[in-house]
Amino acid sequence: MDLAGLACEAGSCQACPLWESRTNVVFGVGPEDARVMIVGEAPGKNEDLEGRPFVGAAGKNLDSLLGIAGLARDEVYIANVLKCRPPGNRDPRVEEIQACAHFLHDQAKLIEPEVIVTLGNFAARHIMKTDMGITRLRGQVHQVGRFKVLPVYHPAAALYDPSKQEALEADFRTLGALLAAS
Ligand code: URA
Repeated sequence: MDLAGLACEAGSCQACPLWESRTNVVFGVGPEDARVMIVGEAPGKNEDLEGRPFVGAAGKNLDSLLGIAGLARDEVYIANVLKCRPPGNRDPRVEEIQACAHFLHDQAKLIEPEVIVTLGNFAARHIMKTDMGITRLRGQVHQVGRFKVLPVYHPAAALYDPSKQEALEADFRTLGALLAAS
């Protein structure tokens, strides 16, 4: 199946109770041959309304961070661990992640990015299959199966925390260097 087929399947997914409260499934956007795949946590209110990932304030920050790595938003593939919004933006639940994980797995398999950048704790822990926190994981490139994974802070968490923002900017410089070297 290709990305369009997967998106279509996700569009009618009822594998966990989040389908009942969603406005739109936020499957992911970007080119199928992207060198970089960005993985966030779950859609927020604006994303649920628009059906696209990172359209709010965190998304603006993400755009400027991508710029530091020499990337434009339309060059990267952006997805989330969960494709539907948890009500009130509560944390994703284990059973929701389990029900949804095959979509992200298949997205990564189809895109085959050179680097997966995980944003925040949930995405890092899910993709790296670890309990370690983002503060310890961030900024280093890890080999996970056939993928290089760069965990970074979530751009929403950095909006009001200058030290996290500095770390994010440093980590996107690392991403730029990694891409330039390969
Ligand atoms: N935060 C996320 O993790 N994902 C989005 O799509 C928006 C905000």
